[in-house]
Amino acid sequence: MAIPTFHWEKSFDGQEYVISNNLEMISYEFIQSSLARKEVYWTGPTISPLETIKTMVVNSCTLGLYKTGDPTSPSKDKARQIGFARIITDYVTIAYLTDVFILPECQGTGLGKWLIARTREIIDSMPELRRSVLLTDQNGKGVKFYERELGMKVFNTGDNGGKVVMMRVNTSS
Ligand SMILES: CC(C)(COP(=O)(O)OP(=O)(O)OC[C@H]1O[C@@H](n2cnc3c(N)ncnc32)[C@H](O)[C@@H]1OP(=O)(O)O)[C@@H](O)C(=O)NCCC(=O)NCCS
Repeated sequence: MAIPTFHWEKSFDGQEYVISNNLEMISYEFIQSSLARKEVYWTGPTISPLETIKTMVVNSCTLGLYKTGDPTSPSKDKARQIGFARIITDYVTIAYLTDVFILPECQGTGLGKWLIARTREIIDSMPELRRSVLLTDQNGKGVKFYERELGMKVFNTGDNGGKVVMMRVNTSS
């Protein structure tokens, strides 16, 4: 089975946004620098080599979030990457959501909910999905956010270094 192509567009406040898994649009440098930011508390401050970032991105369903028609964009199609989310998956039975990030200056306007709604659409389209999983900060805003937007439930609050495992089970398997 070929890897499916995902592409959504949305117009908001006179600005166009795109969510896509097109690898030709991805800025590996953007992902590299984002994962080293303090807001991305689950990775630590280390800057991973670009080759490592490429391997990570190519081997998962990486959704880039882009602002289009931005004249400050360095890319030729004028799409500027402002966020991303990754689903580690076989596209059939299992989906692990990780690395959800939007630039602070672009947060708080509904783009995060849009990004998560689209990841939900991808997860829900898997033909024999057994479960979807994620980890988030036990005391952060993520628990309520993922309960509401993804239908996740807290699975385990054991000793996970302040992280909580959340899961949505689709079958008894
Ligand atoms: C999580 C994140 C992508 C949400 O993006 P956003 O554009 O602010 O999201 P929206 O405007 O669509 O929705 C805001 C909702 O996100 C929720 N949220 C979840 N995690 C959040 C976080 N770490 N920081 C801020 N808001 C967060 C808020 O509770 C808010 O819910 P509300 O509308 O009921 O108040 C963004 O805050 C982010 O990149 N945070 C830093 C990285 C991070 O914490 N990622 C998630 C790990 S669980």
